[in-house]
Amino acid sequence: MDFKFSDCVQSFRSSAIRDLMSLATRSDIISFAGGMPGNELFPVEDMVEMSAKFSRKQWEEAMQYGPTPGNPGLVKELTEFLRRRNFPVDRNKLIITTGSLQGLNIIAKLFINPGDTVITENPVFIGGISSFLSYQANIESCDLDADGINIEQLKEKINRNPKPKLLYLTPNFHNPAGLVYSRRRREELIEVMRGTEIPIIEDDAYGELYYDKEGYERSRPMKTWVDAEMDSQILYTGSFSKIFGPGLRVAWALVPEIVYEKMQICKQSIDACTPTISQVFAENFIKTGKMEPYIEQIRKIYNTRRNYTLQAIKKYLPQEATYVTPIGGFYFWIKMPHGVDEEQLFRKVVERGAVFVLGSVFHPHAQKNGYIRVSYCNTPEEQIDKGIKIIGDAMKELMA
Ligand SMILES: Cc1ncc(COP(=O)(O)O)c(C=O)c1O
Repeated sequence: MDFKFSDCVQSFRSSAIRDLMSLATRSDIISFAGGMPGNELFPVEDMVEMSAKFSRKQWEEAMQYGPTPGNPGLVKELTEFLRRRNFPVDRNKLIITTGSLQGLNIIAKLFINPGDTVITENPVFIGGISSFLSYQANIESCDLDADGINIEQLKEKINRNPKPKLLYLTPNFHNPAGLVYSRRRREELIEVMRGTEIPIIEDDAYGELYYDKEGYERSRPMKTWVDAEMDSQILYTGSFSKIFGPGLRVAWALVPEIVYEKMQICKQSIDACTPTISQVFAENFIKTGKMEPYIEQIRKIYNTRRNYTLQAIKKYLPQEATYVTPIGGFYFWIKMPHGVDEEQLFRKVVERGAVFVLGSVFHPHAQKNGYIRVSYCNTPEEQIDKGIKIIGDAMKELMA
C-alpha cells in the first residue's frame, strides 16, 4: 500500500538520532538521558491516600467527560495556586491542557499557516519545535548565552517581512541548556517585543524547580511582573508533569480571554477534555495541601543530584568541557572540548554502560552542534559518579 501522507509528515525528524539512541538498551545502563522525574520520587502514597478518601460521587465524576477548558474544581485550586505566585489570573483565563505539549500544539494550530515563521531559541525543546513543524512553520532561531536569548539576533528576526507569528521561549531551567534567563535579559526582551504584536509563548514547565533563593529570584516568570499591555502578549504554559507526574498529562495555559476562547474550541475537537480522573487527582493534590511540601521535597532531591553531578563533572571531565551550572531543573548542557566528536563519544559511552542525549536532538534543524545534554533528574545518587566517570574518561581518550 502506497500511503499518501500529508505534507506535514515530511517535517517529522529523521530517525538517525533515534537509531543512535536505540543503542542504549542495556537494562543496567546508567542513564543521563531521560528528561522525566525519577519513578521513585512520585508521590504514590499521597495518591493512594487521596483516592481512598474519594466518595462514590467523586469517582463517578472522575470517570465522566468533563468541561473542555477543565474541571471547575481544578481550575479553582490552580487559579489560587497561581494567584499566590503573583500571576495575573484575573486579567487572563486558565485552560487545562493534556500536557503542556498539547497547549503548545493548540497554540501552534491557532496561529500558524504553512510557511509562517516561529522564532525559537537554539538549542530548543524539541517537543515545541515538533508542534510548530507539524503546522509547517518556518523555524528561525536565536542563540542562547548564560543570560538568555541573544537580543540582537531577536531584533533582526522580529523586523523581517513577513512578520514572524510567534516567539517560543523557555526562560526557566531551560531544556536542554539548563540556564535561567537573567532579569535584565528578560527586561530587554520585553522592551524589544513591545508593540510588535508577536505573541510570546512563555513555556515554564520547570519553573517550580529552583534550588535556592537565587534560583527563585531569577526565575520569576515574565507573566508575573509585566504591565497589562505586555501581559496580553504573553501566552504562559505550566505543567504538573515535573511537580506531580507526567503520566497524569495535566498542564495549563494562562492566556488572554480571546486566545482562551479559540483554544477551547480547538481542544474540543482534539480530546474533548483532559482526563477527568487526572484532574481530580491534581485538584486534590493542591486542595489537601500535599503539593507544596512535595515540591519542596523534590527541589531538595534535584539539588542534591545536581551537586553530585557537578562534583563528578569537576572530578572527571576535562577542563576544556564547558557548561553553565544549573540552579534549578534537570540538565547540564555540556560543550565538547575541541576535537571531541559527540557521536563518537556517545558510542564509546554507551558501550561502557552509560548514556546521555546528543545536542543535535535540540538543534532546531537537527544539526550537529558539539553539545551533549546530561540529565541528572532520573539518576540515583549512587550511580552518578560512576556514570560521569565513564563520560569523562571517554572524552579524555578522544581528546588524546
Ligand atoms: C521545556 C518543556 N516544555 C514542555 C514539556 C512538556 O511537558 P508536558 O509533560 O506537560 O507535556 C517538556 C517536557 O519535557 C519540556 O521540557
